[in-house]
Amino acid sequence: MSAPQPIHLHDYQLPAYRVTHTELKFDLSPSATRVVARLHLERHSERQEDNLPLVLNGEHLKLLRVAIDGQELGAGEYSVDAETLTIFEVPQRFLLDTEVEIAPESNTALEGLYLSNGMFCTQCEAEGFRRITYYPDRPDVMATFSTTVIGDAASLPVLLSNGNPVERGELPNGRHFVTWEDPFPKPCYLFALVAGDLEKVEDRFTTMSGRDVTLQIWVEKENLDKTDHAMASLKRAMKWDEDTYGREYDLDLFMIVAVNDFNMGAMENKGLNIFNSAAVLTHPLTATDAAFQRVEGIVAHEYFHNWSGNRVTCRDWFQLSLKEGFTVFRDQSFSADTNSAPVKRIEDVSFFRTAQFAEDAGPTAHPVRPDHYIEISNFYTLTIYEKGAEVVRMLRNLLGWEAFRKGTDLYFSRFDGQAVTIEDFVGCMHEVSGQDLSQFMSWYSQAGTPEIDANGHYDYAKSEYHLTLRQRTPATPDQHEKLPLHIPIRLGLVGTKSGDDLEMTLDGETLGKDAVIHLREEEQNFVFTGIAEAPVPSLLRGFSAPVKLRFPYGREDLAFLLQHDSDGFNRWDAGQRLAMLALDDLIAAHRNGVEKVMDVRVVDAFRTLLTAKVDDKAVLAEMLTLPSEAYIAEQQPVVDVDAIHAARTFVKQSLAVALRDEFMAVYGDHQSDVSYAPEPGQIADRALKNVALSYLMSIEDEEAVALTQQQFEADHNMTDVRAALTLLTHSSRSDLADPALKAFGEKWAHDSLVMDQWFSIQVTRPQPDVLERLKFLMQHPAFSLKNPNKVRALIGTFASQNRVNFHRIDGEGYQLLADVVIELNKLNPEIAARIITPLTRWQRFDETRQALMKAELERIRAEELSPNVYEVVEKALA
Ligand code: PHE
Ligand code: ZN
Repeated sequence: MSAPQPIHLHDYQLPAYRVTHTELKFDLSPSATRVVARLHLERHSERQEDNLPLVLNGEHLKLLRVAIDGQELGAGEYSVDAETLTIFEVPQRFLLDTEVEIAPESNTALEGLYLSNGMFCTQCEAEGFRRITYYPDRPDVMATFSTTVIGDAASLPVLLSNGNPVERGELPNGRHFVTWEDPFPKPCYLFALVAGDLEKVEDRFTTMSGRDVTLQIWVEKENLDKTDHAMASLKRAMKWDEDTYGREYDLDLFMIVAVNDFNMGAMENKGLNIFNSAAVLTHPLTATDAAFQRVEGIVAHEYFHNWSGNRVTCRDWFQLSLKEGFTVFRDQSFSADTNSAPVKRIEDVSFFRTAQFAEDAGPTAHPVRPDHYIEISNFYTLTIYEKGAEVVRMLRNLLGWEAFRKGTDLYFSRFDGQAVTIEDFVGCMHEVSGQDLSQFMSWYSQAGTPEIDANGHYDYAKSEYHLTLRQRTPATPDQHEKLPLHIPIRLGLVGTKSGDDLEMTLDGETLGKDAVIHLREEEQNFVFTGIAEAPVPSLLRGFSAPVKLRFPYGREDLAFLLQHDSDGFNRWDAGQRLAMLALDDLIAAHRNGVEKVMDVRVVDAFRTLLTAKVDDKAVLAEMLTLPSEAYIAEQQPVVDVDAIHAARTFVKQSLAVALRDEFMAVYGDHQSDVSYAPEPGQIADRALKNVALSYLMSIEDEEAVALTQQQFEADHNMTDVRAALTLLTHSSRSDLADPALKAFGEKWAHDSLVMDQWFSIQVTRPQPDVLERLKFLMQHPAFSLKNPNKVRALIGTFASQNRVNFHRIDGEGYQLLADVVIELNKLNPEIAARIITPLTRWQRFDETRQALMKAELERIRAEELSPNVYEVVEKALA
């Protein structure tokens, strides 16, 4: 087999033919579905000499018939290979008819048309439509669709596709059909079809211009009681997009369908969003607060795509962040407006700095707009999504909200119905603001995380504060030279006497107490004048740019900022930095075999947090949360998993011992038996209470053990139950872990999404027996390698979150992951290529582990690989 070849952004060419209208007819059967397609085609060029052959994509299709303008083609008039159908000569404007057969029941890749629990569903982004029929499968070919779905009336009573149902009826042999019409031209990646035995909940929404929209959520019957939150979230999202971006929904019907087997979170198919059931179903007894918030965010995200993605789409897949970065920014803003804004930012940034920074520093690092790829489905990454969102956020901040909104209005109106590029988007921002964004464009083309070294000093005699910023972006695999970026740095200078933000003047210009300065050069000096008292700088407020910023803060400075910074995000970050300094010392002590001593300044800071009356309890819960092992690892030159685990555990236990009564009081004060609602106040209380309990359980305090068991048994809501079960499972006492796990597993055996949680909780257990448990759980009847949620819950969680055990020095954790990747490579290449990520980060570890990890990657490489896994493994071993 020849090695898969990359495709390049600079090779982009307009399509030779456009499809103006697509007619599809599906005759559904698990083993042999017939797909009849009629494409209305037109050559772009009017010139006869440009009469290029028509090349259509198609994979895993059995071609039964091909005709042009009703004339069946003979053998010499076309050719078919594993990836294309080529017709040598075609007229200027014509109808192409094809008929193919496909086998949904053997589709384990979950791309194209497949079966999930007996229900037919599709996933076409990015290149799944070519597994359904022969088509120019690229986003810059946009057509209106008319789709007839035929199926067995008894087993498939519900037949759905994009747009509006226009006709339905009975057919012989117990079959029936529905015809759907979607009047909005769309690329085929937004096509969707669902057929199954589903039930719906229905609601309505009146749009800002007074149009009445029917909203439906389709689920399996037993899940009808788990749709309220998704429906409420959808209505809030529709209203928010009208109020915030002036965007109105455009069809009479909006549908969401929940499916159990799905590679990603959800998909924005026009008028028919298809969701991983984990991203839509919630119930107080089965879903945690975090799950409720995730559902709200994903429902909003997919809905927002109706404009940012569907009405205005991407010219090619290199532009993926055009829709994803922008839409993530939109959903983050929505969630911030609906819940606690500072907590949303803290959560997003702490995830970003852990996971995206690691991606940007690893072998698969790529720019927000990649310039080449082998397999596009490997590029649904944190860089495209989350870093892309940070870049849009910087644009919003550079322009200010009003100009930014003018820019989005211009973008949506100018490019409605078109497939466009990132230049088109940024061009609108430039046009409405007059700002020069040319240097800013490098954020899209340059991979890697910029590092800023900041230094400052206060000149008493002149009442000046001097700040020096130096930027550098480390080399990434295919980019050795890096340009300086345009980096907006929001900052304040906090007076050490007053504790207040000081008025800042820069180059004679008054900036106010909180301002943005622009770093454009490799190194720049900023002199703030009229600074009456010595300040501590509060830099990169709100994480104003996706960079690593170092400043030689003393521990007193950080304790001071933790109390006084007016920016909630930086107050939290000061606490994280303070904890990191203490953790660094303890990691060193552990490595050197020296006795560990807890830094009293951290204890004092925590005592102040616990006893002061902080009004934002959600932020407080975040402040009390220590940096995760993964985040700590990101800060180390060579990751020492055992030292990190030991140091973090030591800090946690020391705090618990020193502040036992304070934690106990916080727990007691936030107990409540009001009926569950996923609203910010309650969520904050639960978070705070459960953080306190986790400290107390780290020392297996007797009273805490009793409280945890009570909380587990009270079964009030999944947030509290899961928190308690996790603590019991993580304790060293199997008399606590085993009975609770057993009870929970039996109680929820019928609920697949709860079983996913049961799997995850067990494999995050720090004790060394976890690998045996994991192997045992892989044989559990509820587990299946064919279900991505199960793979993520069990294998993904273990490899990414149980760091001490995944990185066991005997290499067993690595071996287990490689075995799974080899199996999944055959079943579901997309999931295989994702789940492998922790192995690709071998450069970060000691030599012994490096060798073990590389050996597993080599073992994988020796297999016959899908392009997906091939691309990742090649990069990892390059
Ligand atoms: N476009 C989807 C989203 O982010 C993600 C997705 C990509 C889903 C590819 C399935 C396949 O909203
Ligand atoms: Zn998206």
